[in-house]
Formats: sequence, C-alpha cells, structure tokens
Amino acid sequence: VAADGQVTPGPRTRASPGRLVIASNRGPTEFFWQEGAWQTRPATSALTIMLEPLVRDSETAWYCCAPEPPEAVGARGMLSAAARRSGSSLDIVPVPVAEKTYDAYYGRVANEVLWMLQHDTLRAAADGSLDLDAELREAWTAGYERANTQVAAAIAASVTGAAAFLVHDYHLYLLPRLLRRTFDEVPILHYTHIPFPSASTLRRLPLRWWRRILLGLLGADVVGFQVESDARAFLECCASLDRTSVDSNEMTVQTTDRRRVRVRAFPASVDPAELRRTMRSSGTARARRQLAGYWTGPTIVRVDRLDPSKNQVTGFEAFSKLLEQRRDLRGRVRFLAFLVPSRTGLGRYEGYRRSLYETVQAINERFAGAYVQPPIEVFYVNDRELALVAMESCDVLLANSIADGMNLVAKEWAVVSKKPGALVVSERAGVSREAAGAALPVSPFDLMGTASALGRALDMTPEERAVRLTRFRRRIESWTARDWLRAQLDELQVRPGAVPAAEMRGDGPGGDRIGMDG
Ligand code: F6P
Repeated sequence: VAADGQVTPGPRTRASPGRLVIASNRGPTEFFWQEGAWQTRPATSALTIMLEPLVRDSETAWYCCAPEPPEAVGARGMLSAAARRSGSSLDIVPVPVAEKTYDAYYGRVANEVLWMLQHDTLRAAADGSLDLDAELREAWTAGYERANTQVAAAIAASVTGAAAFLVHDYHLYLLPRLLRRTFDEVPILHYTHIPFPSASTLRRLPLRWWRRILLGLLGADVVGFQVESDARAFLECCASLDRTSVDSNEMTVQTTDRRRVRVRAFPASVDPAELRRTMRSSGTARARRQLAGYWTGPTIVRVDRLDPSKNQVTGFEAFSKLLEQRRDLRGRVRFLAFLVPSRTGLGRYEGYRRSLYETVQAINERFAGAYVQPPIEVFYVNDRELALVAMESCDVLLANSIADGMNLVAKEWAVVSKKPGALVVSERAGVSREAAGAALPVSPFDLMGTASALGRALDMTPEERAVRLTRFRRRIESWTARDWLRAQLDELQVRPGAVPAAEMRGDGPGGDRIGMDG
C-alpha cells in the first residue's frame, strides 16, 4: 500500500470465508523500526487485553497500523517477516502508515481531538468554539482520512472473504464505509470503546469531520457501543444527517442506500477465568514479592493510563482533603498509583504529567511530618502483574474518570480483590451502572464528595465490603468478555470458522454504495 493509499494487488489469501477479520489501530503486537530493522513487542491496551485471548485459538486475521519512518519504506518484506516472527498464533497484518501520516491521524486527530472531545476534556474557548488550526485541519485529510483509506486498501488487497469484519474504535470511524465498497456481502460491525458524544458536542467539530464520522460508521451493519446512553447519543447524532431516518424504538438507522443499520450496546467485560489464571502465574508471584512491604496500613490504589480523562490530579487532591479532614487517617493511609505511560509524545499529556507530579510532591511535602514513607507513591510503569497484585491487596480502588466508556480496571479489581476491598467509581464511567449498589459513586468534578467517599470506603467493615464486592463480582461472572464478543457475533448472525457469511445473512447483499464525499 503506497502512501497515497494506492494498492499493488498482492496475494489475496489473508482470510477465508469463515474467518474473522479484526481491524484496530493497535493490534496485539506493536511494530517499531529500530536500528535498521522492524522489531516487535506485545502491545497492551484495554482493547487487546480483552479481545486477543478470545480469538487467540480461532482463525482470525488482525489488521493494525505500523508507523513507518521514511528509511523503512523499502523494507515492507521485513515488516511482514517481523509479523510472522512475532510468535502470535493470530495472523497479524501490520499496515505500514507513513510516520507523518500516522502522527497526524493517531496523535493529532484521534488523540488530541476525538479522544478529548469524547471524554469531555477538549479545551475550548470561553464561547465553546474550537480553535482547530490549519495544521489540524490538514491532519484530518492527510492523516485521519488517509490512514483509514490505507487500512481499507490493505484489507481489500489481501482478503478474499470473511465471516465478518470487526472494526474497533475512534481511530477507524471511516473504515466500515470504505470496506462496504469492496465487501458488500460481508457483515461489518464497528465497536466504539469510549463514550460517544451528544449531537451538540459532536457538532463542535468541522462539518466535514462529523458528517464523515457518522457516514463512516453507518457503513457497518451493526454499530456497537459500551452502554445504551452511548448508542442513544449516536442515534441522536444520526438524526441530523440528511436523507437518513432514525427509529429510536428499534434503535436502527435507515441509510440513503436503504440499509437498516442496527445500533446496539455491548458492555465490555473481563474474562474472570483468564484473570484467575494470571493471578496464579510466576509474573504475579514476582509482583507479590515486590509489593510485600507495602501493606502495612490502609491503602488506596488506582490503576490507569496517565491521561487527563482519568482525572488523577483530582483524585490526589481529594486524598489530600481527606487527610486534612481526618486526623485519624494521617500517617496511616497511603495512596499507591500505578500509572501507565501513555501518548508521551503529545504536549497535552506531557503537561498533565508535569502537573500531576507537582501535585503529588506538594501533598507529600505537606503531610511529610506524619509519615515514614511518602503518603502518595507513583509507579510510572506498564506492569500489568504489579497493578493486578496491588488491586488484589488494596482497601480501596479509586477510578474517578471524567468520562470512561466502561473502565475495565474496576471489573478486574472485582475479580481479583482479596482483602476484600471497596470501590469508589466515577458516575460518568460506563461501569457505574453495573457497579450500582456495590461501589460508592462519585462525581469526577466533586473534590469534597470524592474525599468523603474515600473516607467512607476506608471505614467500611469487612462484612459490608464483602457483600458489595460479591454483588459486583456475580454481575461480572454473568456477563464476561466472552459474552461481549458472542453477543456481537449473534447480532451479525455469524459463527466464525463454520459458516460463510453469505449463507448466514438473512438480508442479502447491501444496496447502492455511498461515495466518500457524501
Ligand atoms: O479504551 C479504548 C482504547 O482503545 C483502549 O484500548 C486503550 O486503552 C486506549 O483506548 C488506546 O490507547 P493507545 O492510544 O495507547 O492505543
């Protein structure tokens, strides 16, 4: 696939009619160019941690993006060879995307704009307007549109047939429509892992952007979200498109090419059996040894990527308020934060990281007299086992995100918590509904409310914690990550590896195609 999205036809052997084809920006393997060669390492993101174990043993092709520096352009064969050597049982297909295009698509549009918009953390002028400079507008066409086109072209060049396409997340909103042009008989599902904005929020984006996002998604047969309110927000957005009608009862959208797109909620979850296996691994044994000295008193833990949407600074300030108000807790309760480095090349993340460390330092200095160890300790590291062991042993898990599609950390905690612990969760996280009656809900903007919820969680008797935890754990056992995937395939009427898509579908091939400029 050339930088302009033109495809040199290659062997179309990637997927047989019974196989699933997954597309996401980040796949289970990360590809990076170093010392004149393509290298790989396992990638960890909420998406891959959830999805990879579910499809590991099935015949699945997984397309993902590989940022390609200019000096690597002549080495495409090496990229495919690196994918084969990666050791994954999946057919992982890296799509080379020129570094400049990738930075514009992933860094600028997907992370600086879409991620922030969808998590209510986009900086705007006092009148609410967005100052999207010329460079950012260019990033949409030369980055976001181009990268989506390149992924579509790579799939079209190598896939002969598939049981279904499963397209993931806000990086690839345009892909379903592009795939529909080539594969009008293969069912397509797009799943958004993060919150979907209301019509008025989405329409703060330039007209071309938001129209293409909606039309791109409507190329799918099923558009999936975490919770019903996200699905309803999408329907509300679609109501503003011309010649498109929305049925709110059926939760469908009739498109201009006479297809009826189903809009559904599939709450993401964890795989408790897989998690329990991880908790018995040598990696967690090592992490238990590493953290053994830490459980000398009541402990609050948080586990998330270092990201403004996760609201870590407010969480630390709430802890400070708690220590201010509750002398009995001073010197006893500690806060361990396991923060995964994320998107470190972006200014907004770097600025947030700086203010986070300044906040931690100020709090630690303020209460130093009462403590032997600093009251807050930050582990700035991507160490899944260490984080899981911390969740296993903590008294309180805090997840006070400004907004969150689901927050799978809260579900992981419910499976692994041993103490038992208590959960303080943002009412604006998708998980808050399933955690109702089990967790203590907080508004992410309410510092005092978060401080008192932390205090209440620390004061909870072990009996009350156990009742609440069991309630939440049962809900998770009854809707696992496997149910999440199965529900999507059922909605598509697909049984991967068994029956070709065309034989399964009741509604026949799609109708007219929609042009990219629609
Ligand atoms: O939550 C949606 C998601 O795609 C997760 O998979 C992941 O945690 C994050 O967003 C993406 O992170 P990154 O930018 O590091 O791929």
